[in-house]
Amino acid sequence: MDNSLLVIIPTYNEIENIVPLVEEVLSRVPSAHILVVDDNSPDGTAAAVEKIAGNKPALHILKRSGKQGLASAYIDGFKWGIPKGYDIFLEMDADFSHNPEYIPEMLVQIKIHDVVIGSRNIKGGGVEGWSALRNMISKGGSLYSRIILSCPIMDLTGGFNMWRKSALDKIGLDGIISKGYSFQVEMKFKAYHYGCSVKEIPILFSDRKHGSSKMSKKIFIEALVNIWTIKKNTGINNAIDQFLKFAVTGGLGTVTNLFIFYLFVDLAKMREIPISIGCFIIAATQNYIINHKWSFRQKDYAEKLSFKKWQLFICGSLLGLAINIMVMSFIIKNFNLPWKFIAQACGIASGMIINFTVSKLVIFNRRKNVN
Ligand code: GDD
Ligand code: MN
Repeated sequence: MDNSLLVIIPTYNEIENIVPLVEEVLSRVPSAHILVVDDNSPDGTAAAVEKIAGNKPALHILKRSGKQGLASAYIDGFKWGIPKGYDIFLEMDADFSHNPEYIPEMLVQIKIHDVVIGSRNIKGGGVEGWSALRNMISKGGSLYSRIILSCPIMDLTGGFNMWRKSALDKIGLDGIISKGYSFQVEMKFKAYHYGCSVKEIPILFSDRKHGSSKMSKKIFIEALVNIWTIKKNTGINNAIDQFLKFAVTGGLGTVTNLFIFYLFVDLAKMREIPISIGCFIIAATQNYIINHKWSFRQKDYAEKLSFKKWQLFICGSLLGLAINIMVMSFIIKNFNLPWKFIAQACGIASGMIINFTVSKLVIFNRRKNVN
């Protein structure tokens, strides 16, 4: 289809950039349509676009009444294009940071993927002309989001992305909560989370030559906070989260174990070995329930407690215990330690890691939620 690509370019005070950019995009991809979304830029960006739109039928402009943020500019752009039948959408900045020379390669990739990301953070990509601080903020932002959202996309914050219409449908534009730059993270994370195939291609991002960045401290802080809301709304639990909860659960289990042991052995003077075994089973059962209901809970995936999973969990715990004892004895035998409890600590850590891995991959392996 000839009019299938819509390039959406949000602008706020981009008068020196927008006209040459539109011209370059159209010369590289003659079949593209362009939508400039301008927020009533005081510098007259909209008028400059309108002036050249007369003899460029592929150039469109959406004028909004005032600065409403990057996210709503893109969302309005998508909503303008969807009913007109475009099925590929490209987001790009107006300031030449996103070089139009990459568009043909993105178009090749979008044939076999739902989302194509121009990525600064993979081999072959990079940033030119940013201060070390700005670079750190961007890389740090990507890493921070990657960890919290447990999402493998390397460039989560970048704004040079191509979407199939079907990917936008899966993401659900009406559910987007971001106003500012965390929009990019939210869109990409949701695409991944809802099962779109995502491809990153390397791009060299160069700092703008004209005009100034609209990034501010406020926008930055909003982005940091929003990541948590995005995570909460989708109801995912990342591995670190799960591990911390798993560790707390294990700690509670130990308290229960010791308490029952104290009651029956110290107070009631019963034999320690059978009691110790009983304590193990009771504590492991408590751990199974808490892990089921809390550590590995997934909002949109309900599963009942089951006898079979409980048995598996007991086996996993026994495996953890065996590893604990093996590692502890190995260290004591082979290293000359001042205190043996160091060996036991290593044993506990190894047992717990094994135990967690078995729990995550086998016992509480919940299906990735796809819309
Ligand atoms: N309509 C509209 N409304 N446009 C806006 C607004 C707004 O409120 N805020 C920013 N823009 C436009 C700018 O005019 C520019 O075309 C584009 O959005 C990106 O803004 P810049 O100010 O140039 O962003 P940057 O260079 O600091 O940030 C770059 O890096 C970010 C983090 O990696 C961009 O690539 C961002 O997309 C990216 O998120
Ligand atoms: Mn820029």
